[in-house]
Amino acid sequence: MRNIIISSLVLFLVLTGCNTRQPQYRIGVSQCLDDAWRQKMNAEMERELLLHPEMTISRRIAYGSNELQCAQIDSFIKERVDLLIVSPNEAEDVKPAVTRAYRAGIPVIVADRRVSGDEWTAFIGGDNYRVGQLMADWLLSIQAVERQAIHVLEVAGLPGSTPATLRHQGMMETLARNGGVQPQVESVMGSWYKEEAYQVVSEYLRMHKDIKVIVAHNDLMAIGAAEAVRDSKGYGKGSVRIMGVDGIKLGLQAIADGTIECTATYSSRGDMIIETAAHILAHEPYIHDTILETMMVDETAARPMLMQYDARIHDLETLHIVQLQSESRWQQIQNGRLVIIISVVFVCILFIIVLSFLIYSQRKIKKEIKRDILPQLEEVQEAIQLSHRDVAFAERMKQIVDDHLTDPNLNVEYLGSALSLSRTQVFRRVKTVTGKGPLDYIRERRLLRAEELLRTTDMTIQQVALELCFSSPGYFSKCYKEYFGHLPSAR
Ligand code: FRU
Repeated sequence: MRNIIISSLVLFLVLTGCNTRQPQYRIGVSQCLDDAWRQKMNAEMERELLLHPEMTISRRIAYGSNELQCAQIDSFIKERVDLLIVSPNEAEDVKPAVTRAYRAGIPVIVADRRVSGDEWTAFIGGDNYRVGQLMADWLLSIQAVERQAIHVLEVAGLPGSTPATLRHQGMMETLARNGGVQPQVESVMGSWYKEEAYQVVSEYLRMHKDIKVIVAHNDLMAIGAAEAVRDSKGYGKGSVRIMGVDGIKLGLQAIADGTIECTATYSSRGDMIIETAAHILAHEPYIHDTILETMMVDETAARPMLMQYDARIHDLETLHIVQLQSESRWQQIQNGRLVIIISVVFVCILFIIVLSFLIYSQRKIKKEIKRDILPQLEEVQEAIQLSHRDVAFAERMKQIVDDHLTDPNLNVEYLGSALSLSRTQVFRRVKTVTGKGPLDYIRERRLLRAEELLRTTDMTIQQVALELCFSSPGYFSKCYKEYFGHLPSAR
């Protein structure tokens, strides 16, 4: 019974434990924001994950809050994720949490926004200083055809974030290095948001009527600035030349539409981040520091890039459909397997129930036999043994009686001593085997001998009565008649 239960259990575990597609690694992704550029990065990660069924990701978004991002990273540490991908909101404020994760033994990939020091496992991100240089190059190309210093408005990202700092620095240092007429740059802060940019640019344009050029730290703010220009008094649609950064679809579209003039690409490469994570988790060699290329995109480049973009999106969508299909096929297989497991378990349980029932009834029958039938059998056996003893006793007694029919001392006492029994035992046993008392039995044996003597010899009734110890011939005749139904003389 125990063996059956153990085998069913093993069978069950084997069947349920065959799921080889279970992800082995949990990756925590901490995103500082959820704008279009980051959604692109997330989509690239998801696509790459299709090739890595061993990994699963859990993403948390800090919505521009350093505190929230630190708390989210700490919760990933608590959950003991196998690897952490962080794109910090403001590097210095989020760095302590990144360091905590790294010191807790969790490999950390810093994506896009670098944190200082070396307490992280790998970095993958664009070259923000180079982006600043490209912005400066563009300004200088405009300045080159103007006689006076052009008035430039810079719409910067969140001040504490590395891209905002480095883009500004790259631009200013490149401009400063240029010997010619310097563009006059003034900065406002758009904090990466289109709406914020619209507001700060509108305000600025109300006060300054000579703005010729705007450089925004990302495409969304560039579009926000373009809308502000369109809506501002003394300006109007297309009256200011605008550059963005990122090269997201919205930016390329804005270039194609003529809303903005150009953008500097800033790659997100979510696919590369996941690939690096896979290498780290598999203890394979990986690149410690990856700086992604950036390039200038104007109207001529924007159109083909847009087409490519659409094709890539289509690929992504197809991939997604394939993934959904394979997931649903996988689900079907899982469901099928579940049905098999349930059936096997059901059959095993049924088997165990039937077996236990059989064992139970077998035990019950055994008990009943022991309780009811065995004693009866023993009684029968005893009875058989008893009757054997009685037959032997009856023969011995008959022998003794028959040998002493002519002996006047033949009585109960005599029989008792001859058979080694007490008087009471003689009475009980003679009664059992003959159905009569001992004296009646002795008299019966004497009468039978008398009949024989009368029949086979010339002896008279008196002689026979005397010989067989009857007290008188009259008493003999009376007994004879009682037994045989007629007098001895009537024979
Ligand atoms: C979005 C974003 C991008 C920018 C990048 C830099 O959060 O502001 O537009 O290029 O982050 O980290």
